Amino acid sequence: MSNNNPIGFLDSGVGGLTVVKEAMKQLPNETVYYVGDTLRCPYGPRPVEQIKEFTWEMTQFLLKKNVKMIVIACNTATAVALEDIKKTIRIPVVGVINPGARAALKLTNNKKIGVIGTAATINSGEYVSSIHKKSPKTDVYGLACPKFVPIVESKEYESKVAEQVVHETLSAFEGKDIDTLVMGCTHYPLLRPLIRKEMGDKVELIDSGAEAVSEVSMLLDYYDIAADATEKEKSHEFFMTGSKKIFEDISHDWLKMTDVSVNRITLP
Ligand code: SIN
Repeated sequence: MSNNNPIGFLDSGVGGLTVVKEAMKQLPNETVYYVGDTLRCPYGPRPVEQIKEFTWEMTQFLLKKNVKMIVIACNTATAVALEDIKKTIRIPVVGVINPGARAALKLTNNKKIGVIGTAATINSGEYVSSIHKKSPKTDVYGLACPKFVPIVESKEYESKVAEQVVHETLSAFEGKDIDTLVMGCTHYPLLRPLIRKEMGDKVELIDSGAEAVSEVSMLLDYYDIAADATEKEKSHEFFMTGSKKIFEDISHDWLKMTDVSVNRITLP
């Protein structure tokens, strides 16, 4: 049995496009519906109850579009809302934290892992518990990087300012001897070259969102809901609550898509 309904991706802004990019590579038969709450981004500094409420609004929006699966392509929303959403809706829901934690455990040799994310993600302790559930003796160093998301959302991710901010923020890892760093926010892969430069070549960088796509692939098979292989052009759709421009620019830079269909929406 196949199912050609779209997969729904949600994020506080444009960061989830890093997950979509990987999904389009690994799962070319699938149609993507993406909702980005660019108007209310960033979520990271917001109270937990508000992040839950906003995530619910995006989930309900996607459910009305008849998606067959939801990917919470945002670490902050995964950290605070994944469990509730999973318990409440009937279609499969994938978050980005467990896949990122699993990949880090696979790659670390010295069992010293760094995790960077928003304040809400780091304060939730979800990465620490996901890693410690499997390997209690692994040292996990969490670091909130509140300046990173605004840099990406303002499309400054290749600027000198970005380089300086990344340098100052990540210097907190000096002396910690980590050999693996989880980019625990789907916006951060856009800063990857700067993060790589700061951490050096010996530290493995994990893209939590890209790791989540392997789980999506596995669940499509498990539930037998993968789309047909067809030559038909996919009609991906992108919905966002804020300005179209930044979204179109980043989707063009990242997805190399020139004719992205972007719709402005209001939530709830
Ligand atoms: C944010 O909205 O602050 C970032 C979202 C994320 O954690 O991926």
